[in-house]
Amino acid sequence: MDGILLQDRLPLPEEWEELRRTTNWGDRTTDEYRIALQGTLFGVCALDGQKIVAMARVVGDGALCFQIQDVIVDPSYQGKGIGTMVIEHLLEAIQTSALPNSSVYLFASKGKEAFYRRFGFLDRPCEDCGPGMALCAANIIYPNRCK
Ligand SMILES: CC(C)(COP(=O)(O)OP(=O)(O)OC[C@H]1O[C@@H](n2cnc3c(N)ncnc32)[C@H](O)[C@@H]1OP(=O)(O)O)[C@@H](O)C(=O)NCCC(=O)NCCS
Repeated sequence: MDGILLQDRLPLPEEWEELRRTTNWGDRTTDEYRIALQGTLFGVCALDGQKIVAMARVVGDGALCFQIQDVIVDPSYQGKGIGTMVIEHLLEAIQTSALPNSSVYLFASKGKEAFYRRFGFLDRPCEDCGPGMALCAANIIYPNRCK
């Protein structure tokens, strides 16, 4: 999209917070953003002038496992190809450090599966793989606290 600049960097905690507020994913504390960013491999931000309009980041071991997380495009900028630019950019970055047996994972939000299929992501379960599974960490100690 014209005028949108991609930057090879992670968002600042406050930029991430600003974008996350546009979703219904719930709040995080500034400390949680800061600590999570410290443990992130790399990310991409899209800017319209000074304004951050999209972000995504990659966590993992930097060799065999890469997980795409927190893909967010500001709602007033959605449908203009920015999400595609962001994912393509991350996949190119992953390709530079990927090994022959590396895998790229993500959890699609409900209704976003088709967006990711465009890049070659496969739905699980499939013939060869079981379903993706997740556990809210609060439930490790307090079962069923988080549903
Ligand atoms: C999902 C999201 C990242 C897509 O970003 P975007 O910038 O709007 O997507 P693009 O404009 O690059 O869309 C590219 C194509 O994917 C399609 N697409 C976008 N969202 C889609 C969806 N939910 N289902 C199917 N197709 C979708 C578009 O129609 C477009 O198709 P076209 O090229 O034929 O016109 C964005 O809607 C978003 O940030 N949503 C809120 C947060 C979120 O749910 N993130 C995903 C977490 S898993």
